[in-house]
This record gives sequence, structure tokens and C-alpha cells, in this order.
Amino acid sequence: MRVVVGVSGGIAAYKVAHLVRFFKELGHSVKVIPTQTSLNFVGAATWEALSGQPVSTSVFDAVDEVQHVRIGQEADLIVIAPATADIVARIAAGRTDDLLTATVLTATCPIVVAPAMHTEMWNNPATAANVATLRARGFHVMDPAVGRLTGKDSGAGRLPEPQDIGAFALDIVGRTKDLAGMHVVISAGGTREPLDPVRYLGNHSSGLQGTSLARAALERGARVTLVAASMTAPVPGNVTVVPAGSALELRERMLELKQDADVIIMTAAVADFRPAHYADAKIKKADGSDELTISLVKNPDILKELTSARRESGQIIVGFAAETGDSQGDVLYHGRNKALRKGADLLVVNEVGEAKGFGTADNSVVILDNEGEPLGETSGTKLEVAHAILDQVARIAAR
Ligand code: PMT
Repeated sequence: MRVVVGVSGGIAAYKVAHLVRFFKELGHSVKVIPTQTSLNFVGAATWEALSGQPVSTSVFDAVDEVQHVRIGQEADLIVIAPATADIVARIAAGRTDDLLTATVLTATCPIVVAPAMHTEMWNNPATAANVATLRARGFHVMDPAVGRLTGKDSGAGRLPEPQDIGAFALDIVGRTKDLAGMHVVISAGGTREPLDPVRYLGNHSSGLQGTSLARAALERGARVTLVAASMTAPVPGNVTVVPAGSALELRERMLELKQDADVIIMTAAVADFRPAHYADAKIKKADGSDELTISLVKNPDILKELTSARRESGQIIVGFAAETGDSQGDVLYHGRNKALRKGADLLVVNEVGEAKGFGTADNSVVILDNEGEPLGETSGTKLEVAHAILDQVARIAAR
């Protein structure tokens, strides 16, 4: 495996010598890319001796080899350790002002970020927002360890131990290929049900859970098609995107794709109802009336349709259930009933509400089997939740 170790300018850079050795001893090829400032802490000679490869910091070294593009394109894994607040900010902003940031911007492999900085910097809203951006884009950002920092202070911000970073990174790469050769079709985002040329009924889905599933499936070797309703989350590269506006359009696209799909995941928040009539012209305020009544008709249940007309040879179908508890029962009670009604192999139940599920960076789900029995409970970033779901998909596929 070709591992790139990016080193930014923090005192913990000296510990990364052990990380380079960790990967080398496992037989991996390691390319170290330090930032210019990090060389104040550990010099290029150390990295060259440990990795056995030349070291440069600038896009203007070995220009004939087009290093700033090639290293990222060829990497199987990138680990940035220590990741300072500055490198996190530069990557979040998409900058390419040195070899490390250019490499990150051209890479399609998993990227692990191991932050190390003072607690105040880690807790600063600017850093928190940059970390959230990276996580939303699929970077695997570790939480820093808590303990002694550079000076007399201690707290959150210490670089995790090199063997923990190595194990975390290998865990991510090790699970990547269990969906190799499979075509995974994922619906994501919220449908928009048009009312007139300028208005629609919609919902708050950002599409992040769906794009995280797309990213996780890519990491595990699958070919991925994303049927994208309205969404704000960025779509990873190498995903085929098929746009779909309304529930009826999403249904059409899913039915077109279903025959060629080994795995179908219905993450999209599909409107259960749509306006019965579409007004060709913008609806005007009627004189003398303070009310407007909109009639709604039921949309087809796409998930039910997909499970009822499954492809003959082994197709795995995963549904989601966005639930709130009510007087009839709790979230899980409604989730179980939905699992039995929908006929999917897996139903992922998430509690939704204000600041829960829709539009958030994290999710908390219970995965049910086709009989509504819980297989596991997972909380974390939407990418972590995505991998937990795909663990179950891979388990079924391996049967
Ligand atoms: O996009 P994010 O901001 O990241 O938020 C993620 C999410 C909360 C939208 C996602 O995790 C989620 O829960 N998606 C499903 C939302 C939903 O529509 O739930 P539901 O309980 O109404 O529908 C159950 C299942 O049937 C879903 O798989 C849905 O895609 C499907 N469905 C629903 C209605 C319909 N007419 N046809 C369908 O196929």
C-alpha cells in the first residue's frame, strides 16, 4: 500500500517518526510530505532516512514528475499527523499552496487527520467549524488525546499515540474492499413537491447521510450511483450523480436503476404527499380571503415498490425510518412496524426532530433486520454511521 504521511508544524512531529516506522515495518511504501514550518521541528533528513524516499515541501520541486498531482492520485492512504489548526484550516479552505495541500486536493483515497494543538485552539469555533467541514467531506478526523501538552498546560489537543493513529488508519483501509465489484445505488436529500413555478413543499434533508454512505461505499470498493434530490452536502468524486427533484422523479430514476443495483439504499427524505394540482402560474393572493387550502395526494411508496419487485439474484435493499415517538409508542416501536411493512433487508431507524437527524453532522441510529429485530446501535459522524450500515450490508452479501 502507498501511504503518504503529511507532517505539519507542531512539536508532536517528532512522534510521527514512530508512525512512519509503523507503516514501514508492515511493508508499506511511505512518502513523507512535511510542511515547510514542520521542518523547524524535524528535518528532512530524518524523514528521508526513515521512509527511504526523497522529501520535498514545494510544488516546484521535481516539476517534471508532476508530483503535486501524481502523489495524491496514486496514494492508497494519507495520514496527516500532527495536524495543526493551520493545516486543518488550509485543507478546509481547499488551498494548494504547498505539496501537502496539493496532494490532499488531488487524492481520492481515505484521508486520516490526527490533530494536535493547544486546547484553546482545538475548542476555538473556527477550528471546530473547519473540523466539521472536513468530517462532512469524508475526512477521518480523529479526536485529539487528552493529556500533557507542550508547555505546562494539559487538556484536549495532544497527538494520539502513533500506534493508535496507525491502527485507526489501517482499520479504515482494511474494511474498504468488502463491497468490491458491487453497484450501490443510494437516494439522498429531500424531494421537492412543486406547487407552482416558484413554490414547493420540501423538508430539511441536507443529503449528508446519503453522501456519507456514498463515500463509505466508495472506500469499500463499490461503484456508486447517487440519486440526488435537493441537497446541500458535497458529493464525493467518482460518484455518478442522477438528479431527481420530486418524489415521482425519484421513483422513475430508482426504477430505471434498480435492475443494475446490487445494493439499494433509500436515504432520501421522500414526501409522502404532493400537491394534487400544479398551478401553471404563480398562485396569487385571493382578494377577501385570508386562507389558502392545498389538497394533497399520496405519493407512491418507492421503497415498498422496490422490495416488492426485487431483482431475482441477490439484491440487498436498505430503508431508513425517520421517526419521532408519540402517544402510540416510542421511536423503536414505530421503526419495528415500518420494518415489517417495508420488506427491506435492513431498516435504519433514526430519531428526527429539531437539530436531530435532518441537517446535522452526526446521527444516532438503530439498525433493524427484516423482522424488526435490532442488529446494533450506532452514534457518531454520518460517515461512521454509514460504515456501520455497510458493515451489515457486507455481512448479508457474504452469506
Ligand atoms: O440528509 P440528512 O440531513 O443527512 O438527514 C438524513 C435523514 C434524516 C434524512 C436520513 O437519515 C433519513 O432518515 N432518511 C429517510 C427519511 C424518510 O423519508 O423517512 P420515512 O420514515 O418517511 O420513510 C421510510 C423509508 O421509505 C425511507 O427509506 C424513505 O426513503 C422511503 N420512502 C418514503 C416515502 C415514500 N413515498 N417513498 C419512500 O420510498
